[in-house]
Amino acid sequence: MTEKATLNIADKTVEFPVLKGTLGPDVFDIRKLYSDTDTFTFDPGFTSTAACESGLTFIDGDKGILLHRGYPIDQLASKSNYVEVCHLLLRGELPTAAQYEEFERSITMHTMLHQQFDRFFEGFRRDAHPMAIMVGAVGALSAFYHDSLDIHDPVQRNISAIRLIAKMPTIAARAYKYHMGQPFISPRNELNYAENFLRMCFAVPAEDYVVNPVLAKAMDRIFILHADHEQNASTSTVRLAGSSGANPFACIAAGIACLWGPSHGGANEEALNMLKEIGTPDKIPEFIAGVKDKRYKLMGFGHRVYKNYDPRAKVMQESAHEVLAATGRENDPLFQVAKELEKVALNDEYFIERKLFPNVDFYSGITLSAMGFPTTMFTVLFALARTVGWISQWQEMMEDPSQKIGRPRQLYTGPTERDYVPMSKRG
Ligand code: ACO
Repeated sequence: MTEKATLNIADKTVEFPVLKGTLGPDVFDIRKLYSDTDTFTFDPGFTSTAACESGLTFIDGDKGILLHRGYPIDQLASKSNYVEVCHLLLRGELPTAAQYEEFERSITMHTMLHQQFDRFFEGFRRDAHPMAIMVGAVGALSAFYHDSLDIHDPVQRNISAIRLIAKMPTIAARAYKYHMGQPFISPRNELNYAENFLRMCFAVPAEDYVVNPVLAKAMDRIFILHADHEQNASTSTVRLAGSSGANPFACIAAGIACLWGPSHGGANEEALNMLKEIGTPDKIPEFIAGVKDKRYKLMGFGHRVYKNYDPRAKVMQESAHEVLAATGRENDPLFQVAKELEKVALNDEYFIERKLFPNVDFYSGITLSAMGFPTTMFTVLFALARTVGWISQWQEMMEDPSQKIGRPRQLYTGPTERDYVPMSKRG
């Protein structure tokens, strides 16, 4: 017998089916709540609301677990590579050797941008923030690829997904080059996804870039760690934009806009700035006192879902060590500050009580900075990596027969109905 949840409201008793996933809490199916009771639920920030059904990613925030299609993130980060994880997210399974070859090849064959796209970059101010360029440039893809805009055609949906995964590093590298005032570097097919991206960012016409394998591995791992994260703010934005039937390029541009905010993708930039501001370990107590007085937050700490150590943060810390060693920065004072700050916070009652643990952003800023990226690029790299998650979630939504336009309701607290007053009679 199906389990039911009972709600007593005024003189009515209504029952709602209880739905069970393969993992995670049960959910009450309240789709008939309004028609049956004339009431809504109130859940700003969606802290208790499942907005969709999904088979992509599972998070247990209390235990610090993150699974993509069932595979733990630490296994993927240490044994897989980003392109394979893209296949897993987009197609549902780890690829066979033949599937991997075909998938990687299709991504490699779509990395170039239309020549006219270069002119598009030139429209931006020379010192434009690369995220501003990303929002505009990715949205503009829909003006270039008319042959893959029919969202009802699965073949076109797949081509759009491949185009987005393939072209995002090229666009991100160009946003960086434009921001730096350097000429664009074209993709090279003999390099893998991470190597190609690093070269497009750091090669200059006067000197080619020899990819350091430690940095390429760390880049690939950073991409894996950011590939998808359930129904976070930017993913929900992509789904909401897509629910109206908007094309995938426009939806991903909406996701990038949402990711830009400091509470989401902008946090690693803020975390690094915070470490720089603290400067040396002896300033930590004073900084922590300011956090407790609520004058500012400890950036890179805390998470809406994780109330335990973010499993991505553990792997990220490992990569930070490797990259700092490979770039001769083992004694980087910022890294010393980060490690000491983490130790202090994890043993402080204020943070323990509130279940505040390091999130993935705590160590990613130091790592990216050691790799040579300016802070303005951090969120861009996040957007690049998250594109596969966004587009996989969008595809899943498009294939879901119960999909409807997203249309939340509200608790109205404005004025009740009143008559218009002519200007001469106001005030
Ligand atoms: N530093 C200090 N105190 C914090 C922090 C923090 N980083 N995060 C939460 N708190 C405190 C809040 O002040 C609040 O305290 P109170 O109960 O005394 O009022 C309590 O912990 C609960 O916090 P909420 O704001 O309710 O938690 P919420 O789930 O809304 O916030 C968020 C999550 C936005 C991530 C928050 O922890 C934060 O701002 N962290 C810093 C920014 C950051 O690192 N973001 C990256 C997120 S991960 C990602 O996007 C990849």
